[in-house]
Amino acid sequence: MPEKPQIADFMALKGQRKIVCLTAYSAPMAHALDPHCDMLLVGDSVAMVIYGMDTTQNADLDMMIRHGEAVMRRRKSSIVVIDLPAGSYENSPAQALASANEIMSKTGADAVKLEGGTDLAPHVKCLVDSGIPVLGHIGLLPQHAVAGAAFRITGRSEEEANQLHKDANALVEAGVFGIVMEGIIEPVAASIAQSCAVPTIGIGASAVCDGQILVTEDVLGLYDAFTPKFVRKFANLQDDIGTAAAGYRAAVIDGSFPTKDHLFWPKTT
Ligand code: KIV
Repeated sequence: MPEKPQIADFMALKGQRKIVCLTAYSAPMAHALDPHCDMLLVGDSVAMVIYGMDTTQNADLDMMIRHGEAVMRRRKSSIVVIDLPAGSYENSPAQALASANEIMSKTGADAVKLEGGTDLAPHVKCLVDSGIPVLGHIGLLPQHAVAGAAFRITGRSEEEANQLHKDANALVEAGVFGIVMEGIIEPVAASIAQSCAVPTIGIGASAVCDGQILVTEDVLGLYDAFTPKFVRKFANLQDDIGTAAAGYRAAVIDGSFPTKDHLFWPKTT
């Protein structure tokens, strides 16, 4: 990706190589992930992962803007997409536009994401017509999941599979630059990915998708409330943090920290 990331460059990756996406909610995480990613998503999963809330439905516009600003301060070459939180866009295209405008103007992000298919196509079209790039999200929609209930994988019945195809087509027609496909059975996800004109980003969907996304804290082993089947942990930082904290505790208690090198002394003249 070039230094000043463009949505068009992101889209051009389709068919060239797999697209790499992760969530980011903070400046240091954006700094660490940016060289390795094509897209950083400031997901509404921030509500669960960072704030310990039960559902993504607790995220609000202020939360998304605050974390979006932090990520934008340290991103360099990845595009940054920010989730429109539940309750901020579903009522009407005008409501979606007002919320998206607020996010875009306050953070300088590249795009917003919203959850939904055919029902949300008019909202997507309104944003795209106003110059705001939109990433779609179909399949398992965490904003619509009942709090506390298991997330349900979609596409198992013919009716669901047909609806998912209709959702993807409606979003493409409305102008999305890409579609996240979450929790969709593999054959259905693969057939949508193969026929979709824009990049498809899978999460528990299919390896055929043009790219993949995961929640970074899942990848790093930093979120232990729940680990979906589609996650692979590439590290176990919670253990590393525990080891570091135990080392700090031992050093404070036995007096080996701080040493005189960590302290401030009167200037010698
Ligand atoms: O909020 C989020 O993190 C997401 C990804 C899981 C796609 O929407």
